[in-house]
Order: sequence, then structure tokens, then C-alpha cells
Amino acid sequence: MRTIRLGVLGSGTGSNFQALLDAIQAGELHAEIVLVMSDVPNARILERARGVGIPASVIDCRGYATKFPEEAQHDVAAAMRDAGADLICLAGFMRLIKAPLLAVFPQRVINIHPSLLPAFPGLEAWKQALDAGVSEAGCTVHYVDAGMDTGPHILQAKVPVYPDDTYATLHARIQAEEHRIYPEAVRHIAPALLD
Ligand code: GAR
Repeated sequence: MRTIRLGVLGSGTGSNFQALLDAIQAGELHAEIVLVMSDVPNARILERARGVGIPASVIDCRGYATKFPEEAQHDVAAAMRDAGADLICLAGFMRLIKAPLLAVFPQRVINIHPSLLPAFPGLEAWKQALDAGVSEAGCTVHYVDAGMDTGPHILQAKVPVYPDDTYATLHARIQAEEHRIYPEAVRHIAPALLD
């Protein structure tokens, strides 16, 4: 079977991109990252990709601060198709994906979210979890549909919430699990995506 080709979209630090790359380099994930794109021109994720020779480019969101305009989604779809991506992995991408991109990559866009979905969709889910006083938090890898952090789940991991947790300690504990389950989720779904 050939190697699955991944496209990655991220807005920030790129630690989940790094986790995918590390798993590939360790021979634990038979995949290739063909393109990284970000809506944030100075995002660390772009720097990380360029540092290892992976093509990385900025998405022109036409001046919108939070919206992901249709034209930009068409741009991303075209660039990902040209790069030969089989699957798009959202890795801390903070804009809502809609029809234009999903139509070109149906059932082929996945996301990692820092909560046990369906609990705490949206921004800074670890803060929502701590504020809600839950005893268990975690992360979810799921297929992306046009909703916010909805779509069928692929894998989840739980972490405990301790009484002395801060936002930072809880987020770090969740992220450690994110880095473990994201490559695992890709490995799990890859065979069905390859022809
Ligand atoms: C991760 O914790 C990811 O789960 C979250 O953004 C962070 C990105 O970190 N994503 C969401 O909240 C999506 N709704 P990273 O840039 O270091 O991978």
C-alpha cells in the first residue's frame, strides 16, 4: 500500500503538526506531510515546516479576522489537491471549515480538539472544562463537518482534572494526549483513504 499524503492546517504553535512529523520520522506512522498552510503569517507551525523542508504557505483570508471566506477555502482546496493530499489534518486551525473545502475533501478533513466532545466545543476548551469543575477532561480526534467541533469521532483520550490544576497544567496534560492520539487516529483511518 502506498503512503498516505497529509496536508496540515494550523494557526499557532504546531505541536500537533510536530507530533505527526515525529511519528512519521520514528516509523510509527507511514505517511508524508506534503503541505502545511496557515492563516497566520508568522505562525510557528510554518516555521517548523520550513525548517524540515516541507512546503508551507500562508492562506489569504481576504482581511477577515476570524471568518474563513469561501475564496480562501477554494485556494486551500486547490493547493491541497495540487500537492496530492489524501487527508487534511487540522492542527490548531482556528477558523471554521465550510462547504467549499469539505466538498473537495469529503470525509477527508479531520480535527483534534482539546475536550471530550461533545462537551466543550469552541475556543479554549480546557478553560471551559476547568471552569465547569469536571473531574475528567481529554481530547478528541473527529471528522470535520460544517458544524463547530461536530462530526463523527475517531479517537478520544481522557485525562484526570486535579483540584490544584491551573489552565496551563490541564492544557499541558491534555496536549500530551493529543500528541499521542493524533498520529494513532491517522494510522487508524489511513487504509480506507488509499486506493
Ligand atoms: C491544540 O490544543 C488543539 O487541540 C486546539 O488548539 C491547540 C493547538 O496547538 N484546537 C482547537 O481548539 C480546535 N477547536 P498546537 O498548535 O500546538 O498543535
